[in-house]
Amino acid sequence: MIASRLIDWQRLHGRHDLPWQNTRDAYRIWLSEVMLQQTQVDTVKPYYLRFVARFPDVASLAAAQPDEVMALWSGLGYYGRARNLHRCAREVVARHGGAFPDDPQQLARLPGIGRSTAAAIAVFAFGRRAAILDGNVRRVLCRHAGVRGYPGERAVENELWRIAEAALPQHDIERYTQGLMDLGATLCVRARPGCAACPLSADCRALREGTVAQLPTPRPKRSVPLRRCAMFVIRRGDEVLLERRSPSGVWGGLWSLPEFELAPAAAGQAPVDGAAVASGLPDCASLAREVERRFGLRVTPPRPLPPFDHAFTHFRLRVQPLACEPLTAGVAAEAPGLVWLALDDTPGAALPRPVKTLLQSLASA
Ligand code: ADE
Repeated sequence: MIASRLIDWQRLHGRHDLPWQNTRDAYRIWLSEVMLQQTQVDTVKPYYLRFVARFPDVASLAAAQPDEVMALWSGLGYYGRARNLHRCAREVVARHGGAFPDDPQQLARLPGIGRSTAAAIAVFAFGRRAAILDGNVRRVLCRHAGVRGYPGERAVENELWRIAEAALPQHDIERYTQGLMDLGATLCVRARPGCAACPLSADCRALREGTVAQLPTPRPKRSVPLRRCAMFVIRRGDEVLLERRSPSGVWGGLWSLPEFELAPAAAGQAPVDGAAVASGLPDCASLAREVERRFGLRVTPPRPLPPFDHAFTHFRLRVQPLACEPLTAGVAAEAPGLVWLALDDTPGAALPRPVKTLLQSLASA
């Protein structure tokens, strides 16, 4: 059993002076646990202190203007947490008479409080016996029990929750829970863990099997759809024609090179860290006719430039740049949403990063 060793270790080597410790105030504990979701202790400390100075209790936070809450949160990131925090405060006041419930399951029904955060609040504020499973604790348990498989998968997560529940002590739940957190934050860290000093090393399965560095199993690489497009680099002297993108969609509202969607490549999927760009040139002549149709601009036969890939969250874009010049001298092609940009002005323009990179390489060529 790991509990008694963790409790003894926490007493000697754990953290005891964090600003949200040594209190049973559920409001402060809740606030700290929400701030500590996906965020390091050192980052959270000043935010936490400013927050409790301005909003000392749940009623004052519930009564606040949303703008003020957001302003105090500004810089902590994951702003959905701040909106949920405010909603949660109002709900605690409106539905629970201003007192956080002590039951983990009831806590987990409040906005922004998941199962692990609910358990942490129930433990630290009310001494309830409940299991936590945040990112650090996942790593500790995966290694100690030798759990393989990506913890984001339901089956792996369920197994970890079972392990976490089974490990709970009958006494000293607060110190045990803090010990798990502290171990994950200070010794059982992702890279170069301090196994020599770890109170759980004697029966750590990953240590015994030499798999500490492989556990927890990382997220599998996702496959994302591959889209292809041609981008026209229409040069008029040292200027290039840009088109403003529609406000919705990727690169919304930015200026970019005129873009034409191409049929997907034969293999419609590419790994996120995809290999080199395959060739397979589009039909340049028909694209040139498309340019004339869209911009009233006749151009020289397009010449392919080196293609490149750009990764979006949900797809990968394979871009084939095509260079050409206007055939008719003095053609304006000036309409709302079109502009000729001097290549020297590229650095300050509102362009998507890969387009900016491409234009800068042309400017320096
Ligand atoms: N991470 C999440 N909750 C924490 C806490 N109460 N103390 C330190 N780190 C934490």
